[in-house]
Amino acid sequence: MDREAIVKGFEPQLHNILYILHELQDNNPRHFVAKEDIEACADYLKVPYSYVHGVATFYTMFSLTPRGRHIIRLCDSPPCHLMGSTTVLDYLRQKLGIDVGETTPDGAFTLELASCLGICGVAPAIMINDEMFGKLTPDRVDGILEERRKGV
Ligand code: FES
Repeated sequence: MDREAIVKGFEPQLHNILYILHELQDNNPRHFVAKEDIEACADYLKVPYSYVHGVATFYTMFSLTPRGRHIIRLCDSPPCHLMGSTTVLDYLRQKLGIDVGETTPDGAFTLELASCLGICGVAPAIMINDEMFGKLTPDRVDGILEERRKGV
């Protein structure tokens, strides 16, 4: 769906700004909000570009730079720390060869940190795109990444 059609799928009211930005980002194969998306949103809602840009940069779920096809969000909250999330983070960094905030050269994975994902009972946890995974160990991470790569 092109960006004009996406934007026009919502009423042109300011309270729809987050929905519009989410939809634009979700429809971008690189999972980010492009400059043209911000322009289209600002034009449609009749607000300045800087207003929409400010909203898009305020919320961490939006990215203004291209990301991988699979966005790995590792929970960085205390319960997951206690259950070994730093070991999982070190393993992900080493396995993917990237640091937090970076994307693998093949464009497959982006590594990010997140606050509590709401599944503390199965800590440590990650979310990849819309899917949650808990009770992570390096072996389990290997399997999850392999499945994702096959789907790439
Ligand atoms: S603290 Fe990690 S999922 Fe809640």
